[in-house]
Amino acid sequence: NNGAARFLPGRMRLDDLRGAAAHCEGCGLYRNATQTVFGEGPGRAAFMLVGEQPGDQEDRQGHPFVGPAGRVLDRGLREAGIARESVYLTNAVKHFSFTPRGKRRIHQKPTAAEIDACRPWLDAELAVVRPKVVVVLGATAARALLGREFRVTRQRGEPVPLGDALAVATVHPSAVLRAPDRDGAYEGFLADLRTAAEAA
Ligand code: URA
Ligand code: SF4
Repeated sequence: NNGAARFLPGRMRLDDLRGAAAHCEGCGLYRNATQTVFGEGPGRAAFMLVGEQPGDQEDRQGHPFVGPAGRVLDRGLREAGIARESVYLTNAVKHFSFTPRGKRRIHQKPTAAEIDACRPWLDAELAVVRPKVVVVLGATAARALLGREFRVTRQRGEPVPLGDALAVATVHPSAVLRAPDRDGAYEGFLADLRTAAEAA
């Protein structure tokens, strides 16, 4: 398995990319997941938000951020004044990674190899959508886009150049839900989204 590159379509429109990604076997994750969950949003968007990978609900429904993390994200966008029409939403890894435990499917962090394997899809989305601001949600997206030295805990909320765009990293909305001080974590998340809104 040499990653997603050999599954890229000849034509790089979002529809072509989405259609091709549905058949990707660039890493092993396609085997147990229900479907590829590709990014969604306008073909040109001021903001691209990049999460980790689809969760249980996203895997079943086929759309990014439709579960609990998506509700935190929706609230944050609304309160930061970022309009949904100006947002393209995607993930660093396009298939759900999990370990079965009884009837439940326990989310598993994607490995560095899986993140690297899936990056051609993310690069293609960036090339087509050409966002002004990329909001990097958590360590996995940061690893994919900003390199392995980047630390979200230290460098969150600071715009950094990413190609022709600016990237603003923040915590993953799932981490907000898990935080002991959930309100405090949410306020920090919202502050970073406001920084992203101002950077556009
Ligand atoms: N978490 C993510 O990172 N992405 C989703 O699409 C859902 C949950
Ligand atoms: Fe392809 Fe990415 Fe799915 Fe792996 S996770 S099979 S690279 S789309």
